[in-house]
Amino acid sequence: MSFKVSQDEKPFDSTLKFPAPEQKCFNLIILSFHNIKEDKELGRGGMDRQQVVLHMNPGMGDNSYAHNSIIQNKVMRETKAIVEESIMRLYTIVPIHCFKVADLGCSSGPNALQLVSNVIDIVDTTTSNLNLEPPVFQFLLNDLFGNDFNSIFKSLPQFLESLEEKKGHKLGPCFINATPGTFYKRLFPNGSLHFVHSSFSLHWLSQAPKDLGNKENIHLTRTSSPAMHKAYGEQFQKDFKLFLKLRSQELVPGGGMVLTLIGRDKTREIRTSWSLLGTTLNDMVSENLIEEIKVESFDLPLYDPTIEEAKEVIEDEGSFTLQRLESVALDWGANINEDVVDNNNKLDLNMKAEAITKFVRAPLEPVLKAQFGEEVMDELFRRYKNKIVQLIMEVDILEFPTLVMSLIKNV
Ligand SMILES: C[S@@+](CC[C@H](N)C(=O)[O-])C[C@H]1O[C@@H](n2cnc3c(N)ncnc32)[C@H](O)[C@@H]1O
Repeated sequence: MSFKVSQDEKPFDSTLKFPAPEQKCFNLIILSFHNIKEDKELGRGGMDRQQVVLHMNPGMGDNSYAHNSIIQNKVMRETKAIVEESIMRLYTIVPIHCFKVADLGCSSGPNALQLVSNVIDIVDTTTSNLNLEPPVFQFLLNDLFGNDFNSIFKSLPQFLESLEEKKGHKLGPCFINATPGTFYKRLFPNGSLHFVHSSFSLHWLSQAPKDLGNKENIHLTRTSSPAMHKAYGEQFQKDFKLFLKLRSQELVPGGGMVLTLIGRDKTREIRTSWSLLGTTLNDMVSENLIEEIKVESFDLPLYDPTIEEAKEVIEDEGSFTLQRLESVALDWGANINEDVVDNNNKLDLNMKAEAITKFVRAPLEPVLKAQFGEEVMDELFRRYKNKIVQLIMEVDILEFPTLVMSLIKNV
């Protein structure tokens, strides 16, 4: 097995090709770059700061996303049945020779290739059942420019080897491409995708709403003004609507899309984890460990919509038919290996708080580091963990709702 990796930047000739090796299953990585010059000419502006700063903790260290994304991995394994339903439906409506799949916000670590495994399994079963030849696969892994794509590339030899061992001759040629750029802009040519997937990424907004006057908090809390709730809600509507419009241009008619994102129940307040982070930062301001102005000028670009808010945007945008929309409760403490339990078969309180802290640190540290400096990160999360210990003692169940939706592009 051989494959090639390229990271050359060629903004205008966007695909870098290599001669295909002889092997039956080979891998070719193409880095396609968004045409920034064209963007400027079209008045869409250049790269903003968030596109460069935002990424999950890279590498394989203790605080990396790769080691702290068990919850997200569980969700991907659990939503496999919904992906299967969408792909089986596709097979009944369009002839597929090269199956083109995009995973938006793939990040790095084991989850970045989880969708590839799931789709190959599903298509294998589907084509066997329908007595069809296995297709050629093209997987397009997207994330922002700062994402640790190198870790994905480095994990490919082992991944492909185990895939070949598992599937052998039944596996058709498989191309894995990286497409860096924001999913709030066009990423692929018109009508070029059969299936789009995005897991745990769409609660990241394109930006926090501007001029919130939100001095003491870094996000919405129970005490935030109605104007601030409105501003965040409107930013979500604007971003999600744009996302749907762009993907509808890139999908074939009848193409499928499965999206998973953190949501919120109407009855529950906006995530406690953000309030606790804000309180921790403010404690550090009062001890002169962090400058006040830095907290005053910072707002997290995240929003957890209700099921109703998501549905309203999909219906209003109009390019997709909603096949499924569900809310599933997830345990914050699930970010820990299930075999780490104490004598009473319960997760130790301290370990649970540690796992929750890492679950929050892995995605948020790069944006927090850019605002508050690397030197305060360990202290910030040490204090944050203590607050989580207190919270676990006060509240029995720590859950957050996750929205799972399956959509079909209208013909
Ligand atoms: C929590 S990770 C989820 C990764 C993976 N899909 C999973 O389920 O484990 C969210 C990912 O979304 C990416 N992301 C956020 N906003 C994005 C945007 N506008 N365009 C592309 N990727 C984005 C982040 O960089 C991050 O890698």
